[in-house]
Amino acid sequence: MKNTDVIPALVAGTQSTFPQSERPIGPGNKSRDDTLVWNWCKTSFRRSAIALSALFLLTSPAHAEDARIVSVGGSTTEIVYALGAESELVGVDSTSLYPKAASEFPDVGYVRQLSAEGLLSLRPTLILAGAEAGPEAALTQTEAAGVRIVKLDEGYTPGEVAEHIETVGAALGREEKAAEVADIFLADVKAVLAEVAKVKTHPRVLFMLQAGRGPMLVSGKHTAASAMIELAGGVNAVSEFSGYKPFSPEAATLAAPDVILMTNETVEALGGADAVFSQAALAPTPAAQNGNLVSMDALYLAGFGPRLAHAIHDLAEKLHPEHEFTALPARPWTEAE
Ligand code: HEM
Repeated sequence: MKNTDVIPALVAGTQSTFPQSERPIGPGNKSRDDTLVWNWCKTSFRRSAIALSALFLLTSPAHAEDARIVSVGGSTTEIVYALGAESELVGVDSTSLYPKAASEFPDVGYVRQLSAEGLLSLRPTLILAGAEAGPEAALTQTEAAGVRIVKLDEGYTPGEVAEHIETVGAALGREEKAAEVADIFLADVKAVLAEVAKVKTHPRVLFMLQAGRGPMLVSGKHTAASAMIELAGGVNAVSEFSGYKPFSPEAATLAAPDVILMTNETVEALGGADAVFSQAALAPTPAAQNGNLVSMDALYLAGFGPRLAHAIHDLAEKLHPEHEFTALPARPWTEAE
């Protein structure tokens, strides 16, 4: 695909300047610690609630012999593997790319574009769905056909990822394992955030995403990408809107990013790293002048699954090359083939 195919003209709603007043939730910021502690407390509370609801679920949990589980959402599938329940899977969606073995299951399509027919064709007894799963009509129809669906809430904090691990654990009847994984996960997050809190700079980062055949998108607030930037000690260079909007050259210039962040797939779609900064729209930015392009695997970077702590570590290292980060221990769910 040529660069010109993916850099559309200005689109209404993306033309005004990006105010820099939005308070970055930087790692040095005291509220980050408070947030983590709050999330720990919330997690403990939720854990009791989940344990209680698991009692009720005992009448219909997925049991290995007869379970036919379809997992839609790459990070949801990662959780299934982290809990050792992959033998109960009969299908996944196309973003379930980690561990590699997950891609060998029948594929029900892209998690944001599911169909009831596709889901029902695998005769599931349970569908585990990430918050991004949709459209809602496909899930409602599937549920109306008698299939139990456990859908995770949207959430881009480590505490919410721990809750996702425990919710999936309860649905699978693996509460104990889920509590163990969630505890280790949160300890890793705590360790990496303590490291990030030491960085002295907070670069402005612009996340650009080529999604399918659509226009190049940029990430505003309240997205997984934005949350990742902040967790890794950066500042989202786009603070004037929430969600994703088509890329606008003028707005990109005004955002003045120090770093351009992309998924590996986006860099590939643009024709490689050199092609990214050869675009006129990005040329005036500090990122282009310093050749600061960071690219990572989409699911790892913005999946908000059990590899989150390690992904924060890896992104933080790239955003702060001047800082030496202590490596996190490898975990079974981060080193799976
Ligand atoms: C299998 C490969 C894919 C992976 C791992 C993947 C993953 C992701 C991730 C991580 C995000 C960012 C979420 C956020 O920051 O909140 C995203 C957003 C998005 N993706 Fe994908 N994606 C894939 C394929 C596709 C395809 C094939 C399409 C289109 C047909 C697509 C359409 C979109 C759209 C439209 C968004 C923006 C969502 C929004 O507006 O909230 N993606 N995807």
